[in-house]
Amino acid sequence: MKTVAIRASATAIATLLASTAFAWNEGGGDQKEALGLAPDVLNGMEIFDSCAACHRSEGWGMEDGSSPQLAGQHRSVLIKQLTDIRSRKRGMPEGARCSSVLPDAITNVQDLADVAAYSEMLPMNPEWGKGPWGPETPEYAQGERIYKDNCSRCHGDAGMGNGEELLPRINGQHHEYLLRQLVLIRDGKRGNADRDMVKQIKGFTDEDMQLVINYVSWQQVPKDQLADFGTAEDRRIAGRGDRS
Ligand code: HEC
Ligand code: HEC
Repeated sequence: MKTVAIRASATAIATLLASTAFAWNEGGGDQKEALGLAPDVLNGMEIFDSCAACHRSEGWGMEDGSSPQLAGQHRSVLIKQLTDIRSRKRGMPEGARCSSVLPDAITNVQDLADVAAYSEMLPMNPEWGKGPWGPETPEYAQGERIYKDNCSRCHGDAGMGNGEELLPRINGQHHEYLLRQLVLIRDGKRGNADRDMVKQIKGFTDEDMQLVINYVSWQQVPKDQLADFGTAEDRRIAGRGDRS
């Protein structure tokens, strides 16, 4: 009996040491651990103050695509991206200090779980950045064909992705951000890209990429995941407190 007790506490100490060391993304251990923790979203909300300067307090990112929307993204995908950014497996463009802010803002695996869970719950931006060709145009139809042949098997018919399989949601994301990522992935410059995806888009021309991302950017987000004030006009009215 005694030996069992000693063994159990040795395991507990080992676990404790492992979590204090907090070496992100070594062998994916932190990602798995973060996913298994019960998140404290209030702590996540506090951490999010450090993100708001670029991702906005609503988590909506910038419509010009300079920073991505985090609201509504799968928790597991956010956890993976955060560990990849912090360990510099996924590079960042010059001037994006996302990676340098992370080590200060997120100090342990629990913080990682918390900020990801908080971001996922945020209602999404009703006016995300869209591409130039709306649903009635021939370019939209060309993009749709490219999407169905090359993307839907992983990202789903409507771009919802799949949290359990670490497949990012791409609907509702800003057009310019998506296009920038697709180019980085095709050109082998996003260090953490999915190998099968890279193979799939290897032969894409710039035009193919513009067409397919245009199509993605026009996909609808389920209404109950969007922030309720649908249009700029609604917000203007709400801002005046005049709803009549
Ligand atoms: C100084 C600006 C800045 C700050 C502060 C910042 N970020 Fe970022 N973040 C960016 C930019 C820019 C990108 C996109 C980089 C690119 O285009 O490759 C990004 C990308 C990300 C991504 C990848 C999203 C995706 O769809 O793959 C995640 C996740 C993320 N940030 C989370 C955070 C969190 C959480 C915080 C706060 C703890 C934070 N960021 C703070 C600028 C910032
Ligand atoms: C074999 C599966 C697969 C296929 C096919 C695929 N993707 Fe992906 N895609 C992924 C995975 C997995 C990631 C996340 C990689 C990572 O961990 O960084 C990703 C990432 C992305 C991202 C970055 C998202 C973000 O938030 O930063 C974009 C944009 C994207 N894919 C668009 C596409 C488009 C458009 C197509 C079709 C032309 C496509 N993908 C085909 C699996 C796939």
